[in-house]
Amino acid sequence: MAIAFSINGKSVSVEAAPDTPLLWVIREQLKLTGTKYGCGAALCGACTVHVDGRAARSCQTELSQVAGRKVTTIEGLSENGDHPLQKAWIAEQVPQCGYCQSGQIMQAAELLASKKNPTREEIVTHMDGNLCRCGTYPRIVRAIERAAKEG
Ligand code: FES
Ligand code: FES
Repeated sequence: MAIAFSINGKSVSVEAAPDTPLLWVIREQLKLTGTKYGCGAALCGACTVHVDGRAARSCQTELSQVAGRKVTTIEGLSENGDHPLQKAWIAEQVPQCGYCQSGQIMQAAELLASKKNPTREEIVTHMDGNLCRCGTYPRIVRAIERAAKEG
């Protein structure tokens, strides 16, 4: 059965079982591999995308749940990789291995879209469910603060 939705501003129609995890559709069918598989159980945040502007764990989102909705992945966050968060991430040299980082940025982007100048506490609380095995947390917080200031 084909399910239609929008991804990064383009309309797509995907042939897959309705309960297929959105993460597999994004990576395997649409070949957008910036979104990562970590735990598969909504526990790490590596697979975070936006659905209608809200951060969602794509490993636990079924394809049928995005029918007719707007999905954004890290590839679609900005036209040229110049979202304030992406610039701040480079300025603060945030990534170590990099694996968790697209999910971190998508989670942070949800916060800044709704709150231009979050406090440090609001940032920490909002980012709480996104794990980083490399422990880049201090740089993540600094980069979000920089993006809020410079964005
Ligand atoms: S892979 Fe989705 S939350 Fe970990
Ligand atoms: S940078 Fe390695 S897991 Fe976050």
